[in-house]
Amino acid sequence: MSHSNSSCEILMAPLHGVTTRVMRESWYTRFSGIDRTVLPFILAVQAKGSKKNHFKDCLPPLTDCPLETPQILGNDAASFLETARTLHEAGYAEVNWNLGCPYPMVANKGRGSGLLPFPERIEAILNTVYSDSLFADGLLRLSVKTRLGRKSSAEFESVAKTFNNYPLSSVTIHPRVGTQMYRGEVDLEGFALAQDLIIAPVIYNGDIRTTEDYYLIHKRFPNISAIMIGRGLLADPFLAKRIREAQSGEETTTPAYTSPQWVEEVHQWYQDIYASYKTVLYGPGHVLAKMKELFSYLAPSFPDKKKELEHISRSTSFEVYENAVSLFFTAARSGSSR
Ligand SMILES: Cc1cc2nc3c(=O)[nH]c(=O)nc-3n(C[C@H](O)[C@H](O)[C@H](O)COP(=O)(O)O)c2cc1C
Repeated sequence: MSHSNSSCEILMAPLHGVTTRVMRESWYTRFSGIDRTVLPFILAVQAKGSKKNHFKDCLPPLTDCPLETPQILGNDAASFLETARTLHEAGYAEVNWNLGCPYPMVANKGRGSGLLPFPERIEAILNTVYSDSLFADGLLRLSVKTRLGRKSSAEFESVAKTFNNYPLSSVTIHPRVGTQMYRGEVDLEGFALAQDLIIAPVIYNGDIRTTEDYYLIHKRFPNISAIMIGRGLLADPFLAKRIREAQSGEETTTPAYTSPQWVEEVHQWYQDIYASYKTVLYGPGHVLAKMKELFSYLAPSFPDKKKELEHISRSTSFEVYENAVSLFFTAARSGSSR
């Protein structure tokens, strides 16, 4: 059984290409309420030459912010260990293994959720990893982030048995199967069964968009050690703080969802990110692609601002983008969407 914990941590989920270093640094400065963050995956590599660029999202580790755990995607123990060693040498105390990525390009190569139908491969990798002094001596902890299966949640039982042979520091479960991608409802029955099979602390992840969603999960699964939030924090960056304030019973200082003050603060946050991307990325193509992706996660908060958002997503120059953003936030400030 997973351990009991009445105070449930809140984690920021990794979204590759979205919760980048630029986005996270800016988020930490402006918002609060999360205890830890799992970083977007880096591929397990042995190639030493490409190191600097390869690790740019997580090296050097950020300081004065919630604890960050880098994540590794791979299916080869030697590369995994070499990547983990680099992260340990840089000061990290834990790495997370990605066993959930659903994208066919990844999963068809037996990585991410593509490993879930093959518990014997997972076992072999964990066996080698935990034979290395890095993990055997506890210099580095290992956690995993997974789904209920690749094609079926029936796969989870064998996967759980394998996990239980090792002292994993946590198992985050996103209750969908890989072939679902992010479609359909989360399978809470499947999560209930899965969490009972795991010895390590279990973290819930999936479709938490409101304070109520958080409470429903917390109430139904009181033994989970943490709840991880991804898209919900992008649609409402105040969500974690809102949850914490509701829990403590303190008077709220958080602007109401989509209120003019909320819109103003989100606008400033986006300006901040935009300015940073302009300094680290080259040219409008790259910068605008990043910003448009962020806007796509904000869009569910503004179902009646489709036209304004469309202008942003069609922009191809800084000037057109900046005008479209200004019009969107002005429209958003003038009327709450729901
Ligand atoms: C664009 C995108 C990129 C993602 N990248 C990662 C990743 O690098 N590592 C990972 O473990 N999960 C990744 N995920 C999955 C999320 O961490 C999370 O499990 C998923 O969004 C469900 O949680 P949510 O409903 O709170 O967003 C990604 C999801 C999306 C949509």
